[in-house]
Amino acid sequence: GKRIVPYEVIGEKALHNLVDAFYSKVAKHPDLIPIFPDDLSEVAQKQKMFLTEYLGGPKLYTEVHGHPMMRARHLPHEITPTRARAWLSCMSEAMDEIKLDGTIRDEFFSRLVLTARHMVNTPDTVI
Ligand code: HEM
Repeated sequence: GKRIVPYEVIGEKALHNLVDAFYSKVAKHPDLIPIFPDDLSEVAQKQKMFLTEYLGGPKLYTEVHGHPMMRARHLPHEITPTRARAWLSCMSEAMDEIKLDGTIRDEFFSRLVLTARHMVNTPDTVI
């Protein structure tokens, strides 16, 4: 049978709106500000291409930047459990803002939870 492609259900415009809403929240989140550049336009552009591919759409990220290997690309940045939670809360709020809901949202978000956990490369400091 025909497989559902989440990218086709969500659509390019909504995905781009989601990424823009997401990075405007990242820019204001105290746990995330220290590790992101001041200008988020380049990472937003990369994220639009990456999520297109992640959701089953055209392989835009791979075409331009090569194999995603996202965990390796995050190793230069201290991704703590606290930062993973902050990232996911920005994404959840961005999904609220663009009114992405239903099964498509739940399945997309559940996958992002797993991917975010996989990016964690640094423990939270205790002292
Ligand atoms: C890049 C943080 C999770 C996708 C980055 C950068 C940071 C970052 C600091 C580099 C920004 C720059 O200097 O250009 C985080 C944190 C996460 C997280 C704190 C929490 C777990 C994720 C997840 C995804 C993702 C779950 C995908 C589903 C990307 C992409 C880039 C990126 C596509 C651009 C990579 C490139 O340079 O080509 N992230 N990230 N990140 N992140 Fe994340």
